[in-house]
Amino acid sequence: MTLKIAPSILSADFARLGEEVRAISTAGADYVHVDVMDGHFVPNLTIGPAVVAALRPHTPLPLDVHLMIAPCDPLIPEFAKAGADIITIHAEAGPHADRSVQLIKTLGKKAGISICPATHESALDYVLDTVDLILVMTVNPGFGGQAFLPSQLRKIEAIRAKIATSGRKIDLEVDGGINPTTAADVKRAGANVLVAGSAVFQGEARDYARHITALRNA
Ligand code: DX5
Ligand code: ZN
Repeated sequence: MTLKIAPSILSADFARLGEEVRAISTAGADYVHVDVMDGHFVPNLTIGPAVVAALRPHTPLPLDVHLMIAPCDPLIPEFAKAGADIITIHAEAGPHADRSVQLIKTLGKKAGISICPATHESALDYVLDTVDLILVMTVNPGFGGQAFLPSQLRKIEAIRAKIATSGRKIDLEVDGGINPTTAADVKRAGANVLVAGSAVFQGEARDYARHITALRNA
């Protein structure tokens, strides 16, 4: 399986975001991963639809928007309008994940669902027939640069098996603590899209291609 790499701009230089997005786009990234945090669902506050709209003209790559916000439904149309291509909500963000997934599909976008480390994969069973992407958090969401949780490998394997049974084409993305070593582990477990923040945005922009390649060749 070929790996897709989705650098998380959470670890980019926020004062030069357009430039940073252009740099990863020419460095071989597959998606641009945008971490949206609300200071409520997760203990950190990041960026909103205005920033996504401002970044849109800077890259032809799909904008992979990870909503760590609750409630999520009121802002989903704003992120769609801003130019998101994939919108991922959290199963834990409210009682109506299916409604949120349907809302995203209605807006003509790819829909993703994410689960935190303590959430069982069975939370995904009844949205498997609609979602385009499943995002397994391999750290507790909120911050970049945290250590990978090996407990999630078994979950990735279980979800890969569910996807195979479904017969649908669903991306299995992982997010948190991904570096060339953990990339090999999650690939073996069945992930095909790797989010990486600190492992990509280190050193100078001219180093990003090397970091992306190191992850892809894991
Ligand atoms: C964590 C975010 C991640 C984070 C990953 O809440 O969803 O996307 O930026 O950062 P690294 O790769 O540094 O763990
Ligand atoms: Zn993320």
